[in-house]
Amino acid sequence: MKKIAVFTSGGDAPGMNACIRAVVRTAIFRGLEVYGISHGYDGMIKGSIKKMQSHSVSNIIQRGGTILKTARSEEFRTKEGRQKAFDQLKEFGIEGLVAIGGDGTFTGAKILHEEFGIQVIGCPGTIDNDIYGTDYTIGFDTAVNTALEAIDKIRDTAAAHDRIFFVEVMGRDSGYIAIECGIGGGAEFVMVPETQTDLKKVVKALKNLRKTKSSSIIVVAEGGDEGGAETILEKVKQKIQDPEKEFKVTTLGHIQRGGRPTARDRVLASRCGKAAVDGLIEGKTNCMAGVVNGDVVYTPFADCIGKTKPLKEDHLKLIEILSI
Ligand code: F6P
Repeated sequence: MKKIAVFTSGGDAPGMNACIRAVVRTAIFRGLEVYGISHGYDGMIKGSIKKMQSHSVSNIIQRGGTILKTARSEEFRTKEGRQKAFDQLKEFGIEGLVAIGGDGTFTGAKILHEEFGIQVIGCPGTIDNDIYGTDYTIGFDTAVNTALEAIDKIRDTAAAHDRIFFVEVMGRDSGYIAIECGIGGGAEFVMVPETQTDLKKVVKALKNLRKTKSSSIIVVAEGGDEGGAETILEKVKQKIQDPEKEFKVTTLGHIQRGGRPTARDRVLASRCGKAAVDGLIEGKTNCMAGVVNGDVVYTPFADCIGKTKPLKEDHLKLIEILSI
């Protein structure tokens, strides 16, 4: 193998730049030529492919976003789109790919491998932490810390006004961010897509709140089983018609996707990026390089996409116990 390329795809995540840096520098260290594809699969289709040098990735380890840009490509979902993408790779003589992203990115990478035989290894880059085959995904730790900082601030004003806040965090299909923010932010309740919320229990607790606590934080994942924070607010308001209780909603949104990556994310990204290049050189393909129990492991894309990483039961219980 002489030439490889790296790209980021799907939602960006803090630490993607550290991962790109690790891929580029490991490749050069190991005597490979390395190319950067901009705007994910869209860029692959259009041939937005440029050779990268060691200095191309200078001064990016601390930056959020992705210097390679990212996109969600509709055209790549078609056979014709993928053929165009493969033709471009062939044109540049690229024999191996490092795909940094989440399950959508890996689904595309798996199909590309299966249709054209190209070697491809993924690195788990998504704030959602919903990828099987790695304990944590690149960007998750930063996103949780960003959200926590906001929740701490909300707590100040919630306490000052004796208000109940529903704070919506990201996670369309996953409650990992919500759970960790809930534990770290001292939330009373957390609502996530994976489990059924007992709304009656929430309402009962909120009705009794005045007796024990004056303010409250409820963390809601955007894809929560009972809806997002605005929807929950309406449902709860209908059931608690108490003029003394004031409810507010804060949606944290895309601030969770930006910002300087934490040390944890930079280290994870660097390890996965290096492992991806090592894996390609060793002939591995159709798999993701992740970190499980402190060690780098390669997990087939089929498992990363097909298996769900369950939320820890004891984490949900922890929130219940600590919020009495
Ligand atoms: O997959 C990461 C994620 O941030 C999800 O938590 C969120 O639902 C989604 O991306 C938002 O995507 P977009 O930026 O395309 O609206």
